[in-house]
Amino acid sequence: MRAQIQKVPQIVELLKKKSVGLQHFKPTSSVCVLEGKDAAEAAPCPHAAFRAHSLDEIPGPTNWPLVGSLFELLRKGGLTRQHEALVDYHKKFGKIFRMKLGSFESVHIGAPCLLEALYRKEGNYPQRLEIKPWKAYRDLRDEAYGLLILEGKDWQRVRSAFQQKLMKPTEVVKLDGKINEVLVDFVGRIGNISNNGKIEDLYFELNKWSFETICLVLYGKRFGLLQEKVNEEAMNFITAVKTMMSTFGMMMVTPVELHKSLNTKTWQHHTAAWDRIFSTDSPASPDDLIGDILHQSSLSKKELYAAITELQIGGVETTANSMLWVIFNLSRNPSAQRKLLQEIREIVPPDQDPSGEHIKNMPYLKACLKESMRLSPSVPFTSRTLDKDTVLGDYAIPKGTVLMINSHALGSNEEYFDDGKQFKPERWLRENNTINPFAHVPFGIGKRMCIGRRLAELQLQLAMCWLVRDYEIVATDNEPLDVIHSGLLVPNRELPVAFIRR
Ligand code: HEM
Repeated sequence: MRAQIQKVPQIVELLKKKSVGLQHFKPTSSVCVLEGKDAAEAAPCPHAAFRAHSLDEIPGPTNWPLVGSLFELLRKGGLTRQHEALVDYHKKFGKIFRMKLGSFESVHIGAPCLLEALYRKEGNYPQRLEIKPWKAYRDLRDEAYGLLILEGKDWQRVRSAFQQKLMKPTEVVKLDGKINEVLVDFVGRIGNISNNGKIEDLYFELNKWSFETICLVLYGKRFGLLQEKVNEEAMNFITAVKTMMSTFGMMMVTPVELHKSLNTKTWQHHTAAWDRIFSTDSPASPDDLIGDILHQSSLSKKELYAAITELQIGGVETTANSMLWVIFNLSRNPSAQRKLLQEIREIVPPDQDPSGEHIKNMPYLKACLKESMRLSPSVPFTSRTLDKDTVLGDYAIPKGTVLMINSHALGSNEEYFDDGKQFKPERWLRENNTINPFAHVPFGIGKRMCIGRRLAELQLQLAMCWLVRDYEIVATDNEPLDVIHSGLLVPNRELPVAFIRR
């Protein structure tokens, strides 16, 4: 059943991401927008050359006619192992390499200074890789585009409508009550459904928690997903997103127009999934976040509806997946968990719910989340399509080139994180923390970074407080856990953890 929700917002292999600059000595947020003063302090790129080389000179795996490096990638384990293959390529070819898969060509960047160069040269409307199948559905049904696929000024208009409510810390912190409302049910449910502390299909449970939270936050509606009898409509949405995500990959590498005109099974399943997603009821009442946005912005209801749908697609599984990895990392690192419990007990009085205000005084909690997202990122990479000729390091890269930004490779690189295979929250708290802000970019950077990052962080931080305060999270085995790429990075087996009530 864990597969039920497989890949919500992931932007899959082809999607996007961009990096966020982090401020030195601020373990509080793994997703702060780089501020001017921090940007000014950033080190010059040692890879910059006096004369930029051309795109053709970028190294990379053998590019065979028609197939490019497809077979080599398949030999390395296929798409489910692509995150490992890409790390290997970075080791072999360096900070930047070029790869072709069929007709799809991309340039991969995996060095903080290159990300920084990209960030500094970013225009007003950064673009990710185009997801044509999603657009084709919207055009077919005359539905609007949301933030994941909008471009140019339209993207900016919709983004600004949500920016204030979702990105401003003082606004997001007000959502703690709603987040807690769902968490009370979630921690209770963990106790109710556990069998000797073990939860069957923990990932699915986390997806339900995440879905329930986002819906309550966005439009003040509970779907009852954490109840005994699950709400059909919400389940439908979740499974439809899974189908939608699993059917669009094929249409990224073969022309979507062809699928449409031949009415292939892939196209039929894809459109049917979107139909179910768009038929999910999403009321906007005047008191909730969406109601506010509708009243305060010039967005039409249709635009708003598409935007909310994509917020849900973008926010549910990513958050659930990040929580899954936090749980895993804490189970394997009992001393970090003890330290975290100590901080929670010091800051949150036992008779109070953890709140956004408490979180502000919990550096170790924030460091644990950052470290978990570094070691076990959910979204391994994102993309940018260059809207102008751009010099990155040694290379002059032409407009239209797709750049893949590999946060997974960055986070696992010993050059940027010493003892990088270990879970060490303390690394973020060191007095002389020299971690490059562009080496940790789980939510992207710049104008197009994840709009839900602050909400996700608060949700995850509060969930950590509730869970660790009520349960000891223990490892039920210490065998290595294999990670596969399924849009997001997921464990290939049920998580070996148990929740023991304290
Ligand atoms: C831990 C949880 C999350 C992770 C790791 C994550 C990660 C990402 C990444 C890497 C991107 C691409 C950014 C880029 O290209 O620079 C992104 C974009 C996006 N995310 Fe998230 N995300 C998370 C939670 C959320 C939540 C909770 C929401 C909704 C409330 C959300 C909605 C979106 C949207 C709408 C975009 C597209 C933004 C745009 O293009 O303007 N995400 N996310």
